[in-house]
Amino acid sequence: MSDKATIKIDGKEFEFPLITGTENETAIDIKDLRAATGGIVTIDPGYKNTGSCESAITFLDGEKGILRYRGYSIEELAEKADFLEVAYLLIFGELPTSEQLGKFKEDICEQSVVDEDVRKIVDSFPKSAHPMGVISSLTSALTAFNPSSVNVNSEEDMYKAIVKILGKFPVLVAWTMRKKQGLPLDYGDCSLGYVENTYKMMFKQPNKDYVTNQVVVDALNKLLILHADHEQNCSTSTVRIVGSSHAGLFASLSAGISALWGPLHGGANQAVLEMLEAIKEDGGDTKKYMAKAKDKNDPFRLMGFGHRVYKNFDPRAKIIKVAADEVLNDLGIDDPILDIAKGLEHEALNDPYFVERKLYPNVDFYSGIIYRAMGIPVEMFTVMFALGRLPGWIAQWREMRLGKEPIGRPRQIYTGENLRSFTTIDKR
Ligand code: ACO
Repeated sequence: MSDKATIKIDGKEFEFPLITGTENETAIDIKDLRAATGGIVTIDPGYKNTGSCESAITFLDGEKGILRYRGYSIEELAEKADFLEVAYLLIFGELPTSEQLGKFKEDICEQSVVDEDVRKIVDSFPKSAHPMGVISSLTSALTAFNPSSVNVNSEEDMYKAIVKILGKFPVLVAWTMRKKQGLPLDYGDCSLGYVENTYKMMFKQPNKDYVTNQVVVDALNKLLILHADHEQNCSTSTVRIVGSSHAGLFASLSAGISALWGPLHGGANQAVLEMLEAIKEDGGDTKKYMAKAKDKNDPFRLMGFGHRVYKNFDPRAKIIKVAADEVLNDLGIDDPILDIAKGLEHEALNDPYFVERKLYPNVDFYSGIIYRAMGIPVEMFTVMFALGRLPGWIAQWREMRLGKEPIGRPRQIYTGENLRSFTTIDKR
């Protein structure tokens, strides 16, 4: 392949370099396009064809259903790794030695205490508040409680901000859930693993000793790993673009959490479960909902189906489907929702509408079923996604800062009115 692309405008040719990544993905480098052509830009709504950065964190091939963090396959990581190891891998580039992991855990534990005044903020939210709104606000509030984390030019301060948020975020997740349930806002136990400690903080009852449930902890570990990064998706791009203005880590993450909330992104896991419940309530007629999803006059979409990048299968969905069976079996739960989900999947995979558009179950299709079996309320599902995605957002933010990327500031093509004179109100 040539190493240049030529663009011809009005008979004049402009050459731009092609850049190729380590997995042979190719891009036309148009950094100089506007300057060379005297003001012409590209337009690409939804960024379907636009690479916003070069990144060494996550590789995914949507046609082949490949997902790798720092070169390690998602299948291997989900089977063998611990969530905190994966977090370290994503953020710092290599799997940690036991010494590095021990220090990382210690630093996170050290920073996991949340200022007592944050409890007052948690208390001030109505019980009816959606947990995603609460967790995004609390993450933003951490900026006010930790002003030094705003210094994005010091690697040392960046590290401190990273361990702070990794330590405090599970506490905030647990408090967000417990506040809704009217349970005391408490701390866990740093001697436990990161995932188990999170689980304990969420579920410990004030009148009973905490008893570990290894099946649930292992499944949660797997789910968090599967959600940990997904290159330049909507929330991650948000984190990078907010961070590119030199906003601090917590402010950037808070914006990412808001982006994740939407039902076309992380909010889909809640939407999937609500959809499956509605189908169950409606008599379990999956065909009716398949027809609705295909009807262009009906806004209904089959939630948990389709993906901007995966056009073959979502490797995370494959792992989660197996995990859903395992967890429900281990916990002795017979959930009719799982049968409805499997029925829908079977129908969709054999339906020309879905086959032609390459619509497959995505990561969110089965995750909600596992969360529900664990006793996590539906409204908390997207918060669990955020907990899993936290290391990925941090890794992408850190890479963007260390790479000294310029501020993100797209152009546009203006399609509004041309210059006109102001008419005073009495003449309008
Ligand atoms: N149900 C029915 N039809 C669908 C669905 C669906 N879930 N998804 C896509 N389509 C159809 C579209 O109507 C469109 O049809 P057309 O070509 O006849 O107009 C075609 O498939 C392509 O869809 P787009 O929306 O253009 O695809 P895009 O890449 O922009 O969107 C998205 C991807 C947002 C994920 C979409 O598939 C969707 O809305 N899915 C449901 C929500 C969901 O599960 N989101 C979670 C994504 S994973 C994540 O963020 C973690």
